[in-house]
Amino acid sequence: MRIFGISDLHVDFAPNLEQVASLPVGPHRADTLVVAGDICHRLDRAEEALGLLADRFEQVFLVPGNHDLWVKSGEPAPEAAEPESSLDRLEALRRLAGRLGIRMEPGPAGTDWWVLPLHGWYEPGFGAEGAPEVDMSRHWSDPNRCRWPPEQSTDEARCAWFEQLNRPALRTPPGRRVLSFSHFVPRPELIPPLEGLRFKELPRVSGTLRLDRQLRAAGSRLHLFGHTHIAWDAVIDGVRYVQRPLAYPHERARRGETGIELVRLV
Ligand SMILES: [Fe+2]
Repeated sequence: MRIFGISDLHVDFAPNLEQVASLPVGPHRADTLVVAGDICHRLDRAEEALGLLADRFEQVFLVPGNHDLWVKSGEPAPEAAEPESSLDRLEALRRLAGRLGIRMEPGPAGTDWWVLPLHGWYEPGFGAEGAPEVDMSRHWSDPNRCRWPPEQSTDEARCAWFEQLNRPALRTPPGRRVLSFSHFVPRPELIPPLEGLRFKELPRVSGTLRLDRQLRAAGSRLHLFGHTHIAWDAVIDGVRYVQRPLAYPHERARRGETGIELVRLV
């Protein structure tokens, strides 16, 4: 049994959906795939992409990213009487995953592994030393595209909420090795130095150390993450951290990447 990983499918871009569809049917029938978030803000497209993956893999694990929780168009529009919140969207995604047989909760892979999805958000101050202070709403879409209940009105409150959502899942059945995954970045060392970043504000909207505490509490030594669209594979304090994003078409073109490439984790 093999376990593969990928993140940041962004199938609202047609070439990205084509890349997902280009994965061959057959060779992965006995494999597990772990998808570390940012499938698509459109549920119909997300369903299409996840359906393609469910057809190709024995099982698929998923954790949502920030784009998956977008519920607003970003354009000024008359508000519905009871507008959908980003937490409603999380539930809608859970129902969609359930219909497709995709797991958003922990579960076994083969006889040895336990796959642990970790929800999260990004926290102010995470890796932001030296990062410029700017009005993020002008550079970053989440504030205009997500809609949160009053209790989750700040990034910090959202981080705390997702952290408590993970808590019951941290107990691993005896005898199994843990492969954890999150959309967001669990440690600031997993972001390149500021000089090398095109988007200098990235560290401010990247992750939270709460994820690192939780994955270590669960005994994970192998963690897949996403969100920054920067491929990564490094061991820090005994844990291997891996990122393999599909990323945006223009990013693939810039990097000279031709097609979708999954990372083999196990
Ligand atoms: Fe993201």
